[in-house]
Amino acid sequence: MKDVVLSGIRSTGKLHLGNYFGALSKFVKMQEDYDCLYFIADLHALTTHPDASALHDNVKDIVAEYLAAGLDPEKATIFVQSDIPEIPELYLLLNMHVGIGELMRTASFKDKARKALGISRDGSDDEIEKDILGNESNSKRVNAGLLTYPTLMAVDILIQKAKYVPVGKDQEQHLELTRRFARRFNAFYGVDLFPEPTNFDFGGKPVKVPGLDGSGKMGKSEGNCIYLADDEKTLRKKVMRAVTDEGPKAPNSEMTEPVKNLFTLLELTSTPEIVTQFRDAYADCSIRYGDLKKQLAEDILKITLPIRERFLDIRSNDEYIAKVVREGAERARERAAKTLAEAREAMGIRRFW
Ligand code: ADP
Ligand code: TRP
Repeated sequence: MKDVVLSGIRSTGKLHLGNYFGALSKFVKMQEDYDCLYFIADLHALTTHPDASALHDNVKDIVAEYLAAGLDPEKATIFVQSDIPEIPELYLLLNMHVGIGELMRTASFKDKARKALGISRDGSDDEIEKDILGNESNSKRVNAGLLTYPTLMAVDILIQKAKYVPVGKDQEQHLELTRRFARRFNAFYGVDLFPEPTNFDFGGKPVKVPGLDGSGKMGKSEGNCIYLADDEKTLRKKVMRAVTDEGPKAPNSEMTEPVKNLFTLLELTSTPEIVTQFRDAYADCSIRYGDLKKQLAEDILKITLPIRERFLDIRSNDEYIAKVVREGAERARERAAKTLAEAREAMGIRRFW
């Protein structure tokens, strides 16, 4: 039997190069050798983006992008989280064994709670708790769904008994919590129900795709994204506008962060020969950033344009998208229902009829 792999992306907008190199390209590679389930985390999207008019289209976008990037519904199970009612039921049950303190200390909760409250400073755990709990209006602006986000994510993983969860570095803490909840449940009820999942290591270092604005990672909320669905003109413009510096002043000088970021992107998208050529040009001060950017735009387009074309094609085919997620949901539900029945049994929840 093949090992089970599961991962998902929230339906909060179109996918960018960070999502592609951090997650989606790994999903595609893994479908060849593992029993893979990939889903669209639309319930998780509601924790921060409760937009009823956009949600359904956002889900369709991600399904189409999964397929356009090379996920094959014959090889992997592709489904939408909200199509699996067993997930919210197990989420309720698992929450009985999750502490509100450990949820409040989760880094992603603190970040997102700060954002919801418009607080930009870093603060200690105590300060954040005070900001949220000590103020009547703030305490309503941070929703309980956001607090229990890690429980829901743990359930996504545990209900399919996944062994590997390919995700970017920023999700490691959620995986750590998932393992902790699994251990706790198994120990409390004296069962061996949930395996402890780990991230999947391809042997390289975890990727963090930078933005083109000089610092930090590429992210939807950062406004610095190159989207898989960007058209050629838009994409070229974004790359040509990338932040750089005045150029190396002396041979072999240290690179500034914006320039390092351009090289990181070039390494992800170009050939080793081209990377070496530009590194040498940087080292001997003959580099022209305009040439580097032109090359980078070409290499990114080689990856994204075919995805964009397939995306536009699939996105206009509602029937095909519906078929893929209907069949995916059937398969995912069957497995989820089995695990849920085992969890209910372990907890002593029995029917009278
Ligand atoms: P965003 O940060 O844009 O909201 P998500 O949080 O929805 O993106 O991330 C979905 C997946 O893509 C996760 O597995 C995450 O680790 C990965 N990911 C997102 N941005 C990056 C990035 N800049 N570099 C590497 N991986 C990323
Ligand atoms: N939290 C993940 C993110 O922001 C999305 C997600 C939800 C997920 N449930 C999951 C990822 C289960 C992997 C497995 O990217």
